[in-house]
This record gives sequence, structure tokens and C-alpha cells, in this order.
Amino acid sequence: MKSENVTQGERESKSAQKGAIIWLTGYSGAGKTTLGTGLTRKLYELGFLVYMLDGDQVRQGLNSDLGFSSEDRGENIRRIGEVAKLFADAGLLAVVAFISPFREGRDRVRAGMQKNRFVEVFVDCSLEVCEARDSKGLYKKARSGDLKDFTGISSPYESPLSPEVHLQTDEMGVDECVNKIIGHMVEVEIIKSPKSQ
Ligand code: ADX
Repeated sequence: MKSENVTQGERESKSAQKGAIIWLTGYSGAGKTTLGTGLTRKLYELGFLVYMLDGDQVRQGLNSDLGFSSEDRGENIRRIGEVAKLFADAGLLAVVAFISPFREGRDRVRAGMQKNRFVEVFVDCSLEVCEARDSKGLYKKARSGDLKDFTGISSPYESPLSPEVHLQTDEMGVDECVNKIIGHMVEVEIIKSPKSQ
């Protein structure tokens, strides 16, 4: 029996997918969780192994010691990046849905991944539309000063400069957005085309 550790290549030779990170970034209320959930469900139904990490879940557990200062957001994203990299190394599709407002933090995760194994998805919805939706009532609190360091109001958001996938969620439906992400994943051979399976 071989005693060496199982390599990423060995794991992937038995699978129709390659471990990768699908990183959704955008304002609060832009649709990251909705899209991430839809994408995760579709990939699961197509037979792929996929797991989603999102803000509410991770901030209640692993990152419950962190707030929303720039330093804490940086550390939030660093830890999530490390966890997602481990998932990808294990051969999973890791769908990650956090505001992740700073380019540097997102680029650091990208730099730790092989080519085409990090898919940055810009969930692009204007601040006006996110604020008008205000599904959690947080924009109202941020405007009144009850909530400080709120992204878009009192804390910056740095848009991706060249994301692999750019989705205008105030104009596109969820299915259309999910299909666009899946199309890219097929194109860069993270997954085999659902038709060819
Ligand atoms: S990130 O900036 O560190 O990536 P993350 O995605 O984990 O943020 O968490 C964002 C979620 O936390 C928002 O969708 C919102 O529900 C909540 N939240 C609470 N306070 C803030 C704040 N000051 N700025 C942004 N989001 C906040």
C-alpha cells in the first residue's frame, strides 16, 4: 500500500469537478446569499460536491470575535479564504458569499489558488437599489447613525477591476445569473458540461 498523502491530482482524477472557489462579492442586499444559494442548489442537483460559506453562518461561529472595522473585515476575509482553500484542496466547489469590500483581501485569496480555480463574481447592484430594498433594515440604521462602519454609507466598497463574472442583479434574474456562473465554470474546466456527463 502507498503511504504518501493523497494528492489533489489523484483526488481529481476520480471526479467530474476540480476543487475551486466561487467568490461572490458585493454590497449588503445585492443578492449574494440568494445567488449563492441558487448556485449551490443547481450544482448539487447536477451531481457536484459543493458547499456554501456565508456571512451570517461564519460570523456566528468561526468569526464571532470579529466586528466591522477595516482590520476585522480583513481578518474575516483572510480566515474565510483559508477555509475555502482547504475545501478546494479537498476537491470541493466552495461558494463564498461575503461583502469582502477590499480588493487586497480578495486578491490575496486569488494569489493562493492555481490559475482558473478562483472565480471572482461581482454581484453588482447599485447602492440606491440595495438601500431601497433594505431587507434587514440596516441601511436605515446606518443613515441614522445607529450602525457605524456600514459598507457603502460609512465604510468603502472597492469594486472588482476584472472579475471573471460580472452580474447586474438589478437587471438579471437569479436563474440567468446562476447559468452565467455555471457557463464560466464549464469554460475554464472547473466542471464538465452538464450535457456531457
Ligand atoms: S465583510 O465586509 O466582512 O465581508 P460580511 O459579508 O462578513 O462582511 O457581513 C456582512 C453582513 O453583516 C451584512 O449583510 C449585514 O447583514 C451585516 N452587518 C452588520 N453590520 C454591518 C456593517 N457595519 N457593515 C456591513 N454589514 C454589516
